[in-house]
Amino acid sequence: MNLTLSIIYLISTVTFVIGLKLLGHPETAKKGNLIAAYGMVLAIIGTIFLHDFEVPSINYILIGAALLVGSVLGWIIAMKVEMTKMPELVSLFNGFGGGSALLIGLVEFNKNVGVEDASKASASIITTILAAIIIGSITFTGSLVAWAKLNGSMKDLRLPKYNLINNILFTALVAFTAYIIVVNTDSYMLIYILLIASLIYGYLFVAPIGGADMPVVISLLNSLTGIAAAITGILYGNMVMLVGGILVGSAGLILTFVMCNAMNRSLTNVIFGAFGGDAGTGAITGGKSGGTIKKTTASDSAILLNYASKVVIVPGYGLAVAQAQHVIHELEMLLTKKGVDVSYAIHPVAGRMPGHMNVLLAESNVDYDKLIEMDDINPQFPNTDVVLVVGANDVVNPAAHNDPSSPIYGMPILDVENAKHIIVNKRSMNAGYAGIENELFFNTKTSMLFGDAKSALTELVSELKNM
Ligand code: TAP
Repeated sequence: MNLTLSIIYLISTVTFVIGLKLLGHPETAKKGNLIAAYGMVLAIIGTIFLHDFEVPSINYILIGAALLVGSVLGWIIAMKVEMTKMPELVSLFNGFGGGSALLIGLVEFNKNVGVEDASKASASIITTILAAIIIGSITFTGSLVAWAKLNGSMKDLRLPKYNLINNILFTALVAFTAYIIVVNTDSYMLIYILLIASLIYGYLFVAPIGGADMPVVISLLNSLTGIAAAITGILYGNMVMLVGGILVGSAGLILTFVMCNAMNRSLTNVIFGAFGGDAGTGAITGGKSGGTIKKTTASDSAILLNYASKVVIVPGYGLAVAQAQHVIHELEMLLTKKGVDVSYAIHPVAGRMPGHMNVLLAESNVDYDKLIEMDDINPQFPNTDVVLVVGANDVVNPAAHNDPSSPIYGMPILDVENAKHIIVNKRSMNAGYAGIENELFFNTKTSMLFGDAKSALTELVSELKNM
């Protein structure tokens, strides 16, 4: 490889690392994304014009046309996508990444193994090619299934004994791969059987996983796409592909485990547990203590908020469903103008995707400094006059501390029950994602403000304006 291209790859690699670092904070995320994107453009241009291709001539027209079509399509899709549809888009793009890896695997098989003397292809090359085909195929169908489930065009599919079927298929895949490596074959038939089996496994792997567990699965598939890219980087001896793939693979894996930890669940439980159907299905009827709830009105809540000195807002999934991010910002500004100290408590898995609340509140231009992470806000609750919980449920459920039999026992939560007053806004007594009752609603300090978040908050704002 020539020196200029090596330097270009090095610069691109550095931009990926810087980009990833900047993505860690909402204020710098946009810049980070752009820096990494410029690095990628540089790597692509460098590869096209400076790479020492083995073929006699390269078809610039074909490459240019493919780049144009891909860029225009990507631009249009990204410009049009709504924030709430982001996980779907990520899933679709993951699928494309996996599809590319499997195609590269097939092309390289054809080049290195299929047409030449099979004995010349080393076991390491065959292993790398097969890994690209298998991981690429699983990511391809798995991501397309995730995309279809998120956009509602596909329902959860749980075959009888689906875990057993999946485990047998996976073991058979590994054994078959080992056989192909050992016999060092140039048989296209075996490779196509492996390809089809991997595509089927990708489908069966994601099909039974519950809708609300999709973010964890998408993050895992994202990590697999990275690994597939890294493997193709090994095939081509391409440093920038290798490093880029490793960064995506490890970042995806870290995110997967962070989400699992924040939900107090193991990855195997997410994959094999088939937990987490649609949210809001289980109705809570009376609380374990058989307690009663206290209803409140917008005007009573407005009085409480108006005379508070410190208010903490806890946003949750319901805020996103109601698209009430703008009106909550209006409420926050109104209270701040009245001299109230207002902040937002951000739980790491509030909502349905990583950073959901940060993204949602950023849409309405809430000041980043007002978003306080769980570990920092929890010690502040005893000094808080009013906590306003909007469309959140599991992330404020004290059962996580008090009830060892609860499925969320041990999950870190926002300790809102330590505040002086708690106002909870939701539409009914229905459960959240975990499908369990919440004792917080029966706490004597809690008042329930029933209604859709957008209408309830709009009413609250107009009451406050009249004070
Ligand atoms: P949830 O526990 O799911 O509760 C949301 C609540 O919002 C529901 O109880 C619902 O009650 C209410 N709601 C729905 N629509 C509403 C509307 N229009 N107006 C007002 N309220 C509305 O949400 P959470 O507290 O944010 O917790 C998130 C859960 O999702 C956790 O269990 C977490 O483990 C899980 N999860 C999160 C992620 C990530 S990465 N964020 C990924 C997978 C799973 P009503 O129906 O009575 O209104």
